[in-house]
Amino acid sequence: MNLLKHAIKEKGRVLSEDVLKVDAFLNHQIDPVLMQQIGKEFAERFKEAGITKILTIESSGIAPALMTGIELGVPVVFARKRKSLTLVDDLLTSKVHSFTKKETNEISVSKEYLKEDDVILVMDDFLANGQAVRGLMEIVKQAGSTLVGVGIVIEKGFQAGGDLLREQGVRVDSLAIIDSLNNNQITFREE
Ligand code: G4P
Repeated sequence: MNLLKHAIKEKGRVLSEDVLKVDAFLNHQIDPVLMQQIGKEFAERFKEAGITKILTIESSGIAPALMTGIELGVPVVFARKRKSLTLVDDLLTSKVHSFTKKETNEISVSKEYLKEDDVILVMDDFLANGQAVRGLMEIVKQAGSTLVGVGIVIEKGFQAGGDLLREQGVRVDSLAIIDSLNNNQITFREE
């Protein structure tokens, strides 16, 4: 997606050979126009899939998921990473280990919002090692819902998550795949 790649090049900052900072439009300040285009792009790609709900994880997955939900006309559910005062009903839970942050979070979704007849698109802002996506897929499985695919804004193609999921037959659509952040340069994978 050219608009996104342009924003990454213009406003992204390479923090190390592993980490790209995109706080200017995705992870802190949010560019609503870009986010709207991202929603339209995902909706176009998945419009034939019969999606009934989008599942993401707080916090940075919510903006692109919501814009996609508007375009597809379906609700957006986000998994919580922290216990919530009001999240007291029966819960679907899974553990997500972050290699980046070296911590494990239990993520949860109320059983009320994911049902057996739901057809789910899992979404997130970044895909690195794929732990968050795997946690969300586990929740979809526990709910007995159907997973149609995974929509990612920025995939770090030099980390294993995306390709491992594809090898397992999961449809993973990433709007920008970064192959390298070496030498302070952002190199995208050819489409
Ligand atoms: P994984 O889920 O693919 O295994 O990712 P990992 O544990 O490595 O990443 C943990 C957190 O760091 C996730 O956000 C993920 O989106 C984010 N992240 C990973 N690599 C990068 C990167 O290069 N740049 C940026 N900006 N973020 C990255 P999170 O902790 O869930 O944060 P948030 O959604 O609350 O913002």
